[in-house]
Amino acid sequence: MNEVPAVDDRWTELRSDFPIFGGSDGQDSNLVYLDSGASAQKPTAVIKAVSDLYAESYANIHRGVYKLSEEATRLFEGAREKVRAFLNAARREEIVFVRGATEGMNLLANTLGRQRVGQGDEILLTHLEHHANIVPWQMLCQSTGAVLKVAPINEAGEVDMEAFAALFSERTKIVSVAHVSNALGTINPVREMIALARERDVPIILDGAQAVPHLGLDMQELGCDFYVFSGHKMYGPTGIGAVYGRFELLDSLPPWQGGGDMIESVTFAKTTYAPLPMRLEAGTPDIAGAVGLGAAVDYLLGVGFAAIEEHGRHLLEYGNKVLGDIPGLRIIGTAAQKVPVFSFVLDGVHPHDVGTLLGAENIAVRTGHHCAQPVMDRLGVPATTRASLGLYNTTADLDALVEGIGKLQRFFGA
Ligand SMILES: Cc1ncc(COP(=O)(O)O)c(C=O)c1O
Repeated sequence: MNEVPAVDDRWTELRSDFPIFGGSDGQDSNLVYLDSGASAQKPTAVIKAVSDLYAESYANIHRGVYKLSEEATRLFEGAREKVRAFLNAARREEIVFVRGATEGMNLLANTLGRQRVGQGDEILLTHLEHHANIVPWQMLCQSTGAVLKVAPINEAGEVDMEAFAALFSERTKIVSVAHVSNALGTINPVREMIALARERDVPIILDGAQAVPHLGLDMQELGCDFYVFSGHKMYGPTGIGAVYGRFELLDSLPPWQGGGDMIESVTFAKTTYAPLPMRLEAGTPDIAGAVGLGAAVDYLLGVGFAAIEEHGRHLLEYGNKVLGDIPGLRIIGTAAQKVPVFSFVLDGVHPHDVGTLLGAENIAVRTGHHCAQPVMDRLGVPATTRASLGLYNTTADLDALVEGIGKLQRFFGA
């Protein structure tokens, strides 16, 4: 492989936007954070947006007729508009705030799923899914008598598209697939998957939890029916995420949680429901979380997805080279299309020990099955060590990882 240049000046500077790395004076702590796939660090802009809301503009939303409530409502609905623009969704009503990707999938299983799926029907997934895109469907199958169909993957961690296409049948009622795999970093060929689903008139959901920090998105161009993601993986707060739904389909869904804010009128005899998006947002939402997510959108768009995608490709290439040169290290997941995620196993050292010893060097990685046990089973490994990178990572972080691995290999005599 050719040498990959280690040019990251812009991204080194950008680390000073994130206080966890040492504050706004740009003085780096020696934290090597390689666990953004689990949750990303937060820029000052996001932290400040949340704190400003609580300090200056906080009240409950939608119902108040006084100034503070109107201001909080304006900021909350402003965040919805930011998320709409981020996804290039056609309408603001297509954005439903939820707690995160997990709640988003549960919303869809309990609404779209209950509406469309019955005894003997089929839900098509892939072998790459996170548990959040397996278990809600499994629960639906248990209560309806439907079955899961699972498209296989190859040794590289890519979906076998011939098998995926062949798994459609007259009984396929929903397709739900990861845009990007959390365990391996594979970018699925979602355009092809969407085309196959739409040709057959089957609604298709994309689990975008791992795609949102890495890939520029355009719902109108992509043409999926639903897109689900969490804010905390895209540099926003925890406790907030969104479901995008194409208006005609989203508008056909029944409510799933009942309570305040989702109604038009209530009597003991009968309740009528509010229009979208509030019909699917019962109760007081995470107001500050939504505002923080809006700030994360502004931040990401300010950096720009063309640059983020290029940086990701560079980190991927560099990581493949420097990790690939380590004797006894095997990268698990070598798809042609990936985001900068490196799952690996080391001869003679358990992933848990890898993680613990790297942790002692202030290198944060994730070890285990990454909430994707079927992927691990398929690739024949009980667990991996996963380094998942974000926009603040540089090739220096990968060099530190390589050095840390060398040190622990010497320690274990591996
Ligand atoms: C691909 C994928 N889907 C869904 C989720 C669930 O996200 P959350 O825990 O934020 O709800 C994750 C989290 O790791 C993920 O990686």
